[in-house]
Amino acid sequence: MPINVIVGTNAERRPITYIGGKKIPIKSGRSSITKYHNPALPHNINANILPKISIIVPANGISFAISRKSQTIDIIIFIAFPTLKTLFKFNISLINRFYMLNLMGLGLSDEKGLTLEGLETLKKSDKVYIELYTSKWFGSIENLEKMTGKKIMQLKRPDLEENLEKILKEAKNQTISILIFGDPLVATTHTALLIEAKKLGIKTRVIHNASIYSAAGETGLHLYKFGATVTIPFLEKMNNQFPKSVSKIIRDNKGRDLHTLCLLDLISEKEKYMTPSEGMEVLLKSDDITQEDEIVIFGRAGSEEPLIAYGKIKNLIDKDFGNPPFVLIILGKLHFTEKEYLEYHRAD
Ligand SMILES: C[S@@+](CC[C@H](N)C(=O)[O-])C[C@H]1O[C@@H](n2cnc3c(N)ncnc32)[C@H](O)[C@@H]1O
Repeated sequence: MPINVIVGTNAERRPITYIGGKKIPIKSGRSSITKYHNPALPHNINANILPKISIIVPANGISFAISRKSQTIDIIIFIAFPTLKTLFKFNISLINRFYMLNLMGLGLSDEKGLTLEGLETLKKSDKVYIELYTSKWFGSIENLEKMTGKKIMQLKRPDLEENLEKILKEAKNQTISILIFGDPLVATTHTALLIEAKKLGIKTRVIHNASIYSAAGETGLHLYKFGATVTIPFLEKMNNQFPKSVSKIIRDNKGRDLHTLCLLDLISEKEKYMTPSEGMEVLLKSDDITQEDEIVIFGRAGSEEPLIAYGKIKNLIDKDFGNPPFVLIILGKLHFTEKEYLEYHRAD
């Protein structure tokens, strides 16, 4: 009796895309395949190329066909279309093995900053989203769409912070990739998404990329001499009060001769990115920073025109350093190699 089947192999991990494959007659526990059509493969494969089916084991609507092909044993999974619903009811973890929620770093520059692994994964994804509210990205969504052949939908902050359900629901039966500036989990809140996915048994993967945290090494400062990071907020968001928690971190880091990486606030919906001057003005409201302190301004890391400027706050605060994004680095005790390198970037 002919039945509709979904045909896929374990290796391809995407059986659902094969709904609508050719009808295959299955006779009382044995199958004869005359023509095997698999849309994921370039050709229709004739029965004489395809290995002969030797056993069929029907189980919960899934038929496993174990086949012999030269010296190897292939396992082809046949899922009877009418029993697909049952399969979902059984909530078989098999499905989770096929689909994936990928959090993928965009890197620091433009679409060319994507890793090859990222690109391959995007091409295989069913849906691709991008979030651009955690930093300023130099790339173009249109170019990314051309590179990947996928429509790329932009997410807003509430999509990932308050209304996660929609994406999680999709990730149950599709491979979803979300592109995130820099490295997806550096200075973002996206672990919340991973936690919720894990609760639902959705398989997740993180595809890393360059981050402002690693790029900071370009300033010549030793990364193992950095203490905790802070974000310098727009003071209007903080009732014009310099946050005590930020003061404490800067003080603690200084006390231990460590550098402090200061990320600068942004309001992406308004395309508002804190400039180095604004950042320094805010820092001067803290009791722990004076005009005499030396600082490093690091901007547009990963772009073709990065900026490193070193000097006393009083000599840098009125300068215009061009396009964002920027970080400020409050210096701890400098190693002589750090000092030597920074002298090449003295801007005061
Ligand atoms: C919320 S963090 C996100 C970090 C990102 N996930 C990463 O891995 O780099 C964004 C802040 O990092 C800093 N930043 C990000 N990219 C930068 C770049 N290319 N150059 C300088 N600063 C950058 C800015 O201060 C920006 O406001």
